[in-house]
Amino acid sequence: MTMQAGEDSGELVRMENIQKHYGKVESLRNVNLSIGRNEIVGLLGDNGAGKSTLIKVMTGVEAPTAGKLFIKGKEVEAGGHSVRQAQELRIETVYQDKSLGEKQPLWRNFFVGRPITNRLGFIDVKAEKRIAEQIMKSTIGFRSRGISVDSTVGKLSGGERQGVAIGRAMHFDSDLIILDEPTVALAIKEVRRVLDFIQSIKAGGRSCIYIEHTLANVHEVADRLIVLDRGEIALDTQKSAMSLNELTEFLLSLHRVRH
Ligand SMILES: Nc1ncnc2c1ncn2[C@@H]1O[C@H](COP(=O)(O)OP(=O)(O)O)[C@@H](O)[C@H]1O
Ligand SMILES: [Mg+2]
Repeated sequence: MTMQAGEDSGELVRMENIQKHYGKVESLRNVNLSIGRNEIVGLLGDNGAGKSTLIKVMTGVEAPTAGKLFIKGKEVEAGGHSVRQAQELRIETVYQDKSLGEKQPLWRNFFVGRPITNRLGFIDVKAEKRIAEQIMKSTIGFRSRGISVDSTVGKLSGGERQGVAIGRAMHFDSDLIILDEPTVALAIKEVRRVLDFIQSIKAGGRSCIYIEHTLANVHEVADRLIVLDRGEIALDTQKSAMSLNELTEFLLSLHRVRH
């Protein structure tokens, strides 16, 4: 591990003056933020505002150009953060498509990269199936339409896939689950399902960073709202301090400044 000893302040993530440049493009500028325990943070901003870059820095996919990143109170050294380390630190990211293999049966998909093995080092199929079934029923609430742990992922609707990915993140006991536009191309009913999953993340005592374009949805589920504008944090507020109308006005005012 490439971390320094430090106090666990109760914060899951803290960023201090984080910068990320891609060549001449400044994707993140002077980003200061913290993510606390058991809070749902709605992350908003136009296309290209830097939301996904922020998530990539947080989850070790990209190294920041400058600045400090702390996870659970410990500083992550520059370049020392990796996707695997983020998982070990119990941060999970759920992408729209990439997170689930189409042709795999559900039970196998649950344990990709983290199989349950027996004493001989072989995959314990029975245990994986049993646990996958339990997650499907309890965490995700799947009971429907003849779907079982043996069904292939390709049979699931978009919303159900999000559920599987979220269920997996919850099973592996993640403290922070990051959802980067999970509802793109979902039907309204399925969007509702994803919003329900987020409520269950909250009820389970975990935290979530939620990126979505529909302001009403983000406003509904979030405890806190962060707006990125051209790589900088333009707003960081408790949701209770801002109505949906005020949030909409704020985002429109950013546009007016720009155009
Ligand atoms: N790998 C990359 N190489 C070069 N520029 C990038 C790369 N990834 C993102 N960017 C640029 O960084 C800015 C922020 O992008 P991104 O974080 O994807 O925004 P958002 O997720 O808010 O839409 C954009 O200008 C984008 O073109
Ligand atoms: Mg993005």
